[in-house]
Amino acid sequence: MRSKIKGTGYYVPDNVVTNFDLEKIMDTSDAWIQERTGIKERRYAQKGKETTSTMATKAAQRAMQQAGVSAEDIDFIILATLSPDYYFPGAAVLVQRMLGLQKKEIGALDIRTQCTGFIYGLSIGDQFIRSGMYKNILVIGAEMHSMGMDMSTKGRNISVIFGDGAGAVVLQATNEEGSGIITTNLHSNGDFAEELAMISPGCHAGYHEQNPAKYGAESATVFDSVFITPKIVEDGLYFPNMNGQLVFKNAVVKFTQTIEEALRDAGKRKEDIDMLIPHQANLRISQFIQKRMGLEDDRVWNNIQRYGNTTAASIPIALAEAVENKAISEGDLVCLSAFGSGFTWGSVLFYF
Ligand code: UT7
Repeated sequence: MRSKIKGTGYYVPDNVVTNFDLEKIMDTSDAWIQERTGIKERRYAQKGKETTSTMATKAAQRAMQQAGVSAEDIDFIILATLSPDYYFPGAAVLVQRMLGLQKKEIGALDIRTQCTGFIYGLSIGDQFIRSGMYKNILVIGAEMHSMGMDMSTKGRNISVIFGDGAGAVVLQATNEEGSGIITTNLHSNGDFAEELAMISPGCHAGYHEQNPAKYGAESATVFDSVFITPKIVEDGLYFPNMNGQLVFKNAVVKFTQTIEEALRDAGKRKEDIDMLIPHQANLRISQFIQKRMGLEDDRVWNNIQRYGNTTAASIPIALAEAVENKAISEGDLVCLSAFGSGFTWGSVLFYF
């Protein structure tokens, strides 16, 4: 038994925010953003009306429609997000409720591996299907970054990059030859946990106190092991932070390694890949990987120019878009790959 990506769907909010819009509220420029990241515009959800789970539900409904299954056919929901509606419970149960599946009482699991969340979700779903436990699983990636970014110049290295949206697939059991997921690999290295992170609100457990050399003695008083303090609010320390250059350097190495590992496991070569869909972190990273893999432009899908980096949602949005544009045909060998916060990284190789 294998798992096949049976249907794909995505949802992005209508509200387009261009680099020129951002120029009006912080010290940045269209030229800087495009040169460093390739991004021209991104979408922001409608505050008070849309949330991570409403966008996730819309993407899931579209994926189910394409797969020809109804909500009642779904056995399990996996949702990857770093921007859930609530601190707890996770957003997967909210999607379950919006799909009207409370009576069926199926399991709903949130995944917290940020940019790599959809890859982790697919790999987990694949194991459940291979074991024979479930037949139809919704795997979703959804994010609403616009709810919590520092939109002042201080936060510009982060806020110009991230956008909102959701993508989903229906993973279905199949025993068709030459169809479905061939291999997945998952990795992490917690040494880099704080290099791309949002550590407040949180309990911190004294990490910063133990590392004054790295974070400065002052951090011990700011991050004093309680969930949220007035100081954290005053100083805006509840925003994400990123050591961009370090992330970039690690990304280009690990992306290459995880894709090569997937090819090795499957007994395939770079030339066999019909479509590579990298996590949309930065167009420069994607172009670097494309060059390393020796792939032509029509064998790599990029949409970061239009949506920015939507972390866990970026791969399923790109996959659904590639399917919609008929850039992937039945039987094609597709590679999905991600690197991000954690650090975490991994790949999925499948026949469409
Ligand atoms: O999905 C998660 C994975 N994330 C990633 O893969 C991100 C990887 N990293 C990157 O994509 C890049 O590091 C960034 C695009 C985030 C930043 O590009 P960079 O070339 O590494 O820039 P930098 O952080 O070294 O900053 C260079 C300069 C600085 O000014 P000074 O100190 O040289 O005067 C920044 O203050 O650019 C400045 N800067 C900006 N200027 C205009 C930073 N952000 C901006 C901005 N607009 N938005």
